[in-house]
Amino acid sequence: MPAELDSRTRPQLPPTHYLDNRIYTDPAVFEAEKDSILARTWRFVCHASEIPGPYDYRLVQVAGHELVLVRGKDGEVRAFYNSCAHRGARVVRNTAGTLEQGRMTCFYHLWSYDDEGRCTGISRPAGYRDTSVRKEDTSLRPVRVETLFGLVFVCLDDTACPLHEFLGEAVIEAMRTPFGIADLEVFHLHRTEIQANWKLFVETNYEGYHELLHLLNRTTGVAQQEYQERQWTNHQRGHVSFDHARISYGNLNYEQREANMMPGMKPNGHVVINLFPDMLLNCRSTVARIDSLMPLSPTRTLLECRGLGLADDTDTVRAMRVRHHNQVWGPTGINLAEDMWAVQAQMRNMENGSSRYSVIAREEEGPMDDSSLRNFYAEWSRLTGYKPHDLNAEQTSGQG
Ligand code: FES
Ligand SMILES: [Fe+2]
Repeated sequence: MPAELDSRTRPQLPPTHYLDNRIYTDPAVFEAEKDSILARTWRFVCHASEIPGPYDYRLVQVAGHELVLVRGKDGEVRAFYNSCAHRGARVVRNTAGTLEQGRMTCFYHLWSYDDEGRCTGISRPAGYRDTSVRKEDTSLRPVRVETLFGLVFVCLDDTACPLHEFLGEAVIEAMRTPFGIADLEVFHLHRTEIQANWKLFVETNYEGYHELLHLLNRTTGVAQQEYQERQWTNHQRGHVSFDHARISYGNLNYEQREANMMPGMKPNGHVVINLFPDMLLNCRSTVARIDSLMPLSPTRTLLECRGLGLADDTDTVRAMRVRHHNQVWGPTGINLAEDMWAVQAQMRNMENGSSRYSVIAREEEGPMDDSSLRNFYAEWSRLTGYKPHDLNAEQTSGQG
């Protein structure tokens, strides 16, 4: 006789408290997510310190589109689809650099554009004399950009609300520590491909229950009496923030983090802020981390991880931040490898159908409650129109 709860049987729980795992594998769901979430919400693409000077640029990927992000001569950061107005070739082909003489020249027929996306030259223009094609009326297609605390966001949807409204006052206030007090600088960036659905990785920063996976968290955080008192807030639009927890690094013979803290951070403090849909911010006292995701397919995700310190760090302080960063994060840190290991283990069973349902039913007065995940999926459902507990349920028209 089958048990009441196994990975193949629909759990006897309220619909908000479990998931139909096909949300992680179904190609139609992935397409709906691209259209209604990834292309409609504000997405973090880089930190201002990565394009510090006039004409500095980077290529970024958003919802399957390649954009070129350029700091203009006037200091403004702008974004454009990296697609030539002539016949669609990629205009900028190096992933990052400084525009020579502030120009982007398409390699195919040599049309050129300035730092504001305006066309500055059409080769052999006489051939267009009797047509409406004029460089004065031609440009790269612009994309909305907003910067908050040095964090650069873009949104492909011209009708979406401004970034401020998307985040809300409470989230912006939570982000102020450590991002909004002093100038920060990215000192570490790496990318890694995860063989799992993007939401599975997002969940690793949304729920505190899996801290039990991490040797570091088990030993230096969860084991402490006051851990249960950690406060968290589920915000509007699926965002969530966790207040300071005190970490005892000494339990693992790691250095305590009690000097040269990031702005606003407490000694040995740890804060977490997750912005829907896929920007994950962590600060462990002396160093900050930003993760962002580029979903490639239902089962493949590119993860970008950044480490940040203060822009005016001395060499000695920066070396300390790098050391603290690499202890926990970075490609050699202990936690990232464990999170990847966990989500790839889930994905395999979801793809082959061994696992049809996931339980997100924890209710407790403490940071291992699952309400943060339920908050995420309420927003996911509002935008996609899918019922996350049952893909066969009639899809409502999503609001994304
Ligand atoms: S496609 Fe760019 S100049 Fe022709
Ligand atoms: Fe984790």
